[in-house]
Amino acid sequence: MMTQYQTITAADTVLRDGTIKLHGPEGFEGMRRAGRLAAEILDALAPMVKPGVTTGEIDDVVRQMTLDGRAVPATLGYRGFAHSCCTSINHVICHGIPGDKVLKDGDIINIDVTPLLDGWHGDSSRMFLVGDVALKARRLIDVTYECLMIGIEQAKPGRRLGDIGAAIQKHAEASRYGVVREFCGHGLGRLFHDAPEVIHAGRPGTGPELKPGMFFTIEPMINLGKAGVKMLEDGWTAVSRDRSLSAQFEHSIGITEDGCEIFTTSPKGLHKPPY
Ligand code: MF3
Ligand code: CO
Ligand code: CO
Repeated sequence: MMTQYQTITAADTVLRDGTIKLHGPEGFEGMRRAGRLAAEILDALAPMVKPGVTTGEIDDVVRQMTLDGRAVPATLGYRGFAHSCCTSINHVICHGIPGDKVLKDGDIINIDVTPLLDGWHGDSSRMFLVGDVALKARRLIDVTYECLMIGIEQAKPGRRLGDIGAAIQKHAEASRYGVVREFCGHGLGRLFHDAPEVIHAGRPGTGPELKPGMFFTIEPMINLGKAGVKMLEDGWTAVSRDRSLSAQFEHSIGITEDGCEIFTTSPKGLHKPPY
């Protein structure tokens, strides 16, 4: 199928019509602000992720910080999701629902936030360590962060989406980890989830060509064991089928003339644990 691109300006109505949107300077400015807020929220969470805290308490802080930043949590009310972030512990791959669950020593957790600020979505997630975490879990987290950054290295004009997925898959599989296929990165901007799908595996030289002005996330989910996914009864929580630990990091980026801009870089340099 032909990939269609659409140059949009602030005045355009943006539809989820399968086209890849190409944004101008006002889009970059909007994403910079939304992305910075996402990163500031994740920075602020680092000291509170400790044994004894509940995922609901984390969600409360995310909601309050998002509102204080003059934004709204894009996940709140999204397809029936009733929370301000996703909290995915241990073998939970993604979309864990905040609630009464108490964090305990040795857990690993992904927290995924998406403030919607002045019409732009800043989508980012990081892993956090709860107390003393086993070496094999810390290694998984390090390699998952490397997968994200290795994917981002491929994000430049002239490369294709498949180059990103291939680089991530190669790095993860070198450690014999499983790359989750059921969930992808995604175009975003004025829409939360838009074209293209950013698959975290694939063949080099395949898929849509990357062009300046494209905005999308890269958010590899890497399992310590096999790549298979199982959905829980709640309809949201995705876990590894073999119950092995799973890790994820996510940045929102924009393709520039000669590379890309990461919108969700940590102002405090808290890129990966230990923080
Ligand atoms: N932030 C997630 C992503 O990276 C989406 C969460 S949707 C929710 O795309 F409804 F589960 F919150
Ligand atoms: Co995302
Ligand atoms: Co996200």
